[in-house]
Amino acid sequence: QGTQETPTSGFPAGNAGKTISKEVTILYGSQTGNAQGLASRASKMLEEKGFQVTVSSMSEFKTNNLKKVKNLLIVVSTHGEGDPPDNALSFHEFLHGRRAPKFDDLQFSVLSLGDSSYEFFCQTGKEFDSRLEELGGTRLYQRVDCDLDFDEPAAEWLEGVISGLASAQGGLAAETPKSAPQAAETEYSRTNPFKAEVLENINLNGRGSNKETRHLEISLEGSGLTYEPGDSLGIYPENDPVLVEQLLKEMNWDPEETVTVNNKGEVRTLQDALTFYFEITVLTKPLLEQASKLSANGDLEQLVSAGNQDKLKAYLNGRDLLDLIRDFGPWSVSAQEFIAILRKMPARLYSIASSLTANPEEVHLTIGAVRYDAHGRERKGVCSILCSERLNPGDVLPVYIQHNQNFKLPENPDTPIIMVGPGTGVAPFRSFMQEREETGAQGKSWLFFGDQHFVTDFLYQTEWQKWIKDGILTKMDVAFSRDTDEKVYVQHRMREHSKELFEWLQEGAAVYICGDEKNMAHDVHNALIEIIEVEGGISREEAEGYLAEMQQQKRYQRDVY
Ligand code: 2AM
Repeated sequence: QGTQETPTSGFPAGNAGKTISKEVTILYGSQTGNAQGLASRASKMLEEKGFQVTVSSMSEFKTNNLKKVKNLLIVVSTHGEGDPPDNALSFHEFLHGRRAPKFDDLQFSVLSLGDSSYEFFCQTGKEFDSRLEELGGTRLYQRVDCDLDFDEPAAEWLEGVISGLASAQGGLAAETPKSAPQAAETEYSRTNPFKAEVLENINLNGRGSNKETRHLEISLEGSGLTYEPGDSLGIYPENDPVLVEQLLKEMNWDPEETVTVNNKGEVRTLQDALTFYFEITVLTKPLLEQASKLSANGDLEQLVSAGNQDKLKAYLNGRDLLDLIRDFGPWSVSAQEFIAILRKMPARLYSIASSLTANPEEVHLTIGAVRYDAHGRERKGVCSILCSERLNPGDVLPVYIQHNQNFKLPENPDTPIIMVGPGTGVAPFRSFMQEREETGAQGKSWLFFGDQHFVTDFLYQTEWQKWIKDGILTKMDVAFSRDTDEKVYVQHRMREHSKELFEWLQEGAAVYICGDEKNMAHDVHNALIEIIEVEGGISREEAEGYLAEMQQQKRYQRDVY
């Protein structure tokens, strides 16, 4: 139909003498793989419509090509306190810096992923969106901010983008309506999880420990699911039956009353709806805003009003649906109306602790049980406490594999690896070691592990020791923080070995960090910079550049939470 050659009006003749008007560049910034998955879905859809699509991670995109881009789609998630994912960092910085190009004919659109229970919801997407406009770009479709349940808004965004692109093409793109081949969902995925049988469920911590860490072995038999070291397993958990009962009682609801649980019109009892379908343990700002319209209590309206943002933030912290219901009754609302404002139960992601090569058709996890007190009640992590208190061998869990391209063993099996994984952060390194043992990889390896006490908390101790003995694991340094008067952490051990550690880096070692983001990963990052600065005899700024370069080469990867 000749659409490929039809230049869009206003598009300057390229100096290569060839202008193709249907080029679309999709850049993604992804930590857990959701943004990457959506970027490739968008790419497929656009290609079916006849567009020429380039899809790339932001970290792999050559920024000097940006000026040539005509149609730019950004798919990016936000983490923690409004931070970009690791593989978006350098591009984000570039775009906000002095070297960012000025655009005169760039069209763009942003899809941002986030979690509305965080204050800086979808912050990174918002920043890209406003910055691209500031630099002269025009939106071909409005930015869409997605909460955890992103499928529908993402599909809506993609439709909007496609019609935006089509109208810029004078409607030409719309003339190729190859209907997307609707693959029947035979494959198991996030939207079609596999019901996997639990084979084993044990506590890894010894008697007297402050911690409880579950080791789960799960069967993937018959699922066709495969994974690589570094990937995660998604689990759809069930809410605590005690909490569900309290909610039902507090609202005076009949557990057997039926409600519609989704827009496919599926009907369930209230009991099941609250157990399997909805999130009841986290409060978000949008939820409170909607709830305020359903409550006869003026205090809630007051709390969500514009002038009360700090109070609202404080209220949301550590409270759940039962608190909301108790604090702001009476509720003169039907169960159906009420559940309609709840978020869908989100899956929980766990870094896989096994190698499929070593354990065919199985997946192992290392899950820390979460229990704490807040606002006068004991609070329990939904999935970790299900695993700790109510899940037995023979039970089934709905699961799927979340592929993570940002945490992968080096392609070259001879490349040395340095693994930093205190607590449950050690999980993927068990997978790495199993894989390297199974495949006969020759590269050196070095594990930094830490936890509270040697006697009770040395997760998978005998396995590491066997790998050391067999030469699969070259070095291991451990930091037990509460066995001595003064705390020792993994980064202290790293500093003690700074000379050798830097030698490994100079030999091309890849560094992996897994575990707590807020404190540990941040401190370990700084320790690395310091080691590079001191041992390399360079400035702090140069050391930061060294680490950024390693990140670019995928020799510095993080799986943090
Ligand atoms: P702590 O609980 O004694 O403070 C796994 O949870 C291990 O990580 C524990 O030994 C814990 O020590 C330790 N840890 C806590 N904060 C840390 C940090 N900022 N950096 C490194 N390790 C930390």
